[in-house]
Amino acid sequence: MGPWPNDPLGPQARASADIYWIMFVAAVIVLVIVDGGLIFAGFKFRARPGHSAQQFHGHNFLELVWTVVPTLMVISFSVLSFEKLNVMNDNHTGVDMTVQVQGQQWSWLFSYPKEDRFKLIDGSYLSVGEELHIPVDTKVLLQLSSKDVIHSFWVPNIGGKKDAVPGRPTELWIQADKPGTYKGQCYEFCGTGHADMLVTLVVHPKAEYDAWAKTALAEANRLIDPATKTGRETFLSLACVGCHTVKGTTAAGKVGPELTYVASKKSIAGGVLSPVDEANLTKWIKNPPAVKPGTAMPNLNLSDTQIHDIVQWLLTLKCAPNQANCP
Ligand code: CUA
Repeated sequence: MGPWPNDPLGPQARASADIYWIMFVAAVIVLVIVDGGLIFAGFKFRARPGHSAQQFHGHNFLELVWTVVPTLMVISFSVLSFEKLNVMNDNHTGVDMTVQVQGQQWSWLFSYPKEDRFKLIDGSYLSVGEELHIPVDTKVLLQLSSKDVIHSFWVPNIGGKKDAVPGRPTELWIQADKPGTYKGQCYEFCGTGHADMLVTLVVHPKAEYDAWAKTALAEANRLIDPATKTGRETFLSLACVGCHTVKGTTAAGKVGPELTYVASKKSIAGGVLSPVDEANLTKWIKNPPAVKPGTAMPNLNLSDTQIHDIVQWLLTLKCAPNQANCP
């Protein structure tokens, strides 16, 4: 199953696939009749030795047919389209969950509903980049916004496509038939990182959704541990987030290495500094080009306090014991 609009795996995608196929088949039939008739007439009535080309002027029945039939077709396509659009634009009936989706150059941020199952230790609610997690067979309303330019949210198999426009809230509902991971892509050219602005939609079985929420919450709570709060906030307020991703936070940059489990890595700076400890992290952040000439990471001229706080936080970014996908 590929990322293909004709492989609908949700009611939203099915609505557009249905209308696509009906129109496609109708167009093929029209093509065969019109071009078939043209070729047939051209061949049958052509000029050839002993036979002059025949001329026809006016034919009431035929003219009536090719006026009435296309008119009826266009009218039925309109009725059909309005009917499907009603389904696709119905953002209110039967909505089970509402997620805020913010586009920014070049990632999406998903903020889950203000419910206890998404509440963090600091009183805020789960808000993470990279992946959107929803339960299967559940109508989820996405309220889209943008921080900078126009983006567009689109997961082809699940269907529906809606622009995220700065200053103008938009809505889109999605629903998936079966659990799995679905890939999508920002569908509005939004700058040099547009091609990398992916959407990953993870659909969980209903019974497993709360378990996912618990894990995500535990992860997010670890990241906002009060002991390393200053460092985290410093990191998230600086240019760091433009290049690095730390899962579970608003940092979703794609230019530099992911730092979600940086403290469990064997080395940093592309292998130049090892092990990953307080001394090496400090040395690196203080002046990256001095450690590794030509590195893309600039010297941000941070104060010693800032560096200390950030390093204390980075040191907590470790895999859980026995974590399967630890780098
Ligand atoms: Cu965001 Cu293209």
